[in-house]
Amino acid sequence: MLNGFKILTVTHRNTSLQHIEKFVVPHSDEVALREKLSALKSEFGIAEMTYLATCNRVMFLFYTESALLPNFQSVFFQSINPILSEHFISENVALLEGRAAAEHLYRVASSIDSLVVGEREILRQLREAHDRCQQWGLTGDHLRIALQGAVVAAKEVYTKTRLGDKPVSVVSLAMRELDKAKLPKHARILMVGAGQTNVLVAKFLAKSGYQNVAVFNRTLERAQQIATTLNGHAFSFDDLANHQTGFDCLIVCTGATKAIIDNQLYIRLLAGDTNQKTIIDLSVPNNVCKEVVANHDVHFIEIEDLRALAQENRSFREQEVTAANELLEQHLADFVAAVHNRRIERALHKVPAEMKAMKEYALNKVFKKEIDVLDENTRELLERMMDFMEKKCTGIPIKVAKEALASSTAVLA
Ligand SMILES: NC(=O)c1ccc[n+]([C@@H]2O[C@H](COP(=O)([O-])OP(=O)(O)OC[C@H]3O[C@@H](n4cnc5c(N)ncnc54)[C@H](OP(=O)(O)O)[C@@H]3O)[C@@H](O)[C@H]2O)c1
Repeated sequence: MLNGFKILTVTHRNTSLQHIEKFVVPHSDEVALREKLSALKSEFGIAEMTYLATCNRVMFLFYTESALLPNFQSVFFQSINPILSEHFISENVALLEGRAAAEHLYRVASSIDSLVVGEREILRQLREAHDRCQQWGLTGDHLRIALQGAVVAAKEVYTKTRLGDKPVSVVSLAMRELDKAKLPKHARILMVGAGQTNVLVAKFLAKSGYQNVAVFNRTLERAQQIATTLNGHAFSFDDLANHQTGFDCLIVCTGATKAIIDNQLYIRLLAGDTNQKTIIDLSVPNNVCKEVVANHDVHFIEIEDLRALAQENRSFREQEVTAANELLEQHLADFVAAVHNRRIERALHKVPAEMKAMKEYALNKVFKKEIDVLDENTRELLERMMDFMEKKCTGIPIKVAKEALASSTAVLA
């Protein structure tokens, strides 16, 4: 029943975040990402595809009725990143099919599989990833049903369990680490990027009372929005190279798929300062190049460092995970039934057109000669009877199938 659903995934559970970044589809902008995903979809003959890349996973959700080649994972990821070896791919990538794929999707949506269990950000990311792939014509009805089911299940998990109590997120854990650095409130903070994550970072900075924040972003308006909430200053990303007033803390988080703060730029930003700097890089892949961390006196905070803190959080929520899994079991049964029903609905979709075609065939071919010699009143009566029969007969298989669906749903559930 669920055979067509497949997932290729690399997650924080079985590999390091540095490894995950190697599986991210490299792209300079949304147009380039769309082109690359479309090319993958047609190269591998995949009917429907959704791509999700977050700070702790890369996931491709597919629907395809064809069986996958035995070395599908390797060929697929080598098409994304040719330097990846077959061995490295098989060590890091999991391929899930059928029910296992559905189960994984539901667990991801409910944040049970997240680095920080109970963080709801994943649900937004999953929906956005799916909506984007839908707009780009990459996905279809099967994945729509899967996503819809996963969202409903996740919402129930969030409301009926205490999984989201005492909310923490990657951002809040990073901010906890920043607090430990005990920077003064007037510390010079440079924030690079003005996406969803840095909006959250800004809320924490505002709450903690930091007063000297400069925000740099490609789109100036988004930098301005964040700067306003912090009484700070906004600049275009291109102005960063000319920022000569030094800094105490650099917070970098953008969607760039390669490092955007290289050693040369970092030295310019230092403006001659030699004392220790705090750098928070929440991007995956990292946006601050390794050379900067290796060559300078920095207190570097990245997502990988937050893993231990996330584990503490996980222990606290372990009981709730059990309750969440029980709820998901029920939702997975509903999903199986929904897929089954949709399959029958799709088949029934053809019934009205086929009935109509049969009627036309009877009137214009099989009984044409007999009808042609009838008077006008009789012909009109005959046509009305045929229309009536068409409508009524169309309804019969639909009614019977609906009754059968209702009882099979009860059995499958
Ligand atoms: N959301 C989370 O919970 C979370 C948590 C931790 C880490 N992360 C990681 O944080 C990063 C950003 O995620 P997000 O959710 O904040 O993304 P987002 O809302 O899509 O925002 C992306 C930001 O990056 C900028 N950007 C994109 N490509 C760029 C490039 N090539 N050069 C310079 N700036 C670029 C965008 O600028 P424009 O405004 O000009 O488009 C925007 O400010 C990702 O690596 C993600 O994995 C996310």
